[in-house]
Amino acid sequence: MSKVTQIAHPLILHKLSLIRDKNTGSKDFRDLVEEVSMLLAYEVTRDLQMEDVEIETPICKAKCKMLAGKKIAIVPILRAGLGMVDGMLRLIPAAKVGHIGLYRDEETLKPVEYFCKLPQDIAERDIIVVDPMLATGGSAADAIDLLKKKGAKYIRLVCLISSPEGVKAVMDRHPDVDIYLASIDEKLNEQGYIVPGLGDAGDRLFGTK
Ligand code: PRP
Ligand code: URA
Repeated sequence: MSKVTQIAHPLILHKLSLIRDKNTGSKDFRDLVEEVSMLLAYEVTRDLQMEDVEIETPICKAKCKMLAGKKIAIVPILRAGLGMVDGMLRLIPAAKVGHIGLYRDEETLKPVEYFCKLPQDIAERDIIVVDPMLATGGSAADAIDLLKKKGAKYIRLVCLISSPEGVKAVMDRHPDVDIYLASIDEKLNEQGYIVPGLGDAGDRLFGTK
């Protein structure tokens, strides 16, 4: 059963309110999405494995801890997931980045795949799939399907805002994938937008509408 973690940290919620504001322009929107992603990365990596190491400080030798676990891949779902990559990389600079291109057909709301480029050793990596919006859940669930077909086993999903339907859809199709998000909003509207949400994340990030 998926674990769903809502990270209601005051800094995240404050920045999320600014992101939701329709008067926030593309540059501030991008900066804020990056900042919130960095804060989410802190929480999402809380259970990474550590190992004991010996370090020589200017004073003496010391037993310390360093990251020991598997290597990490960050996989944004294009386009809007791109907005979360730099924030994540600020905290996990050694991660590799794979890309999955999906867009939602405006009529059917079903995801259509148009691009997939992943690190060669994706099956061995801890994978963090990022997408600001989890609406019907179709895009995230399909992206995870694709990753599993390539052999991926250790996958977590990080979003800014979800609908209740989106969380349920991913949990039903991928009960082994833990989900991290800043907010579960009220509902989806008839056009498949999250209410209250933030509008179209890709368009707001890239100023395309
Ligand atoms: C948005 C968003 C998600 C998807 C969520 O992308 O970034 O990928 O919709 O919707 P779903 O949960 O109902 O599948 P969109 O398809 O608008 O493409 P874009 O990022 O290129 O704008
Ligand atoms: N995609 C978005 O960008 N926003 C929504 O509210 C739903 C899907």
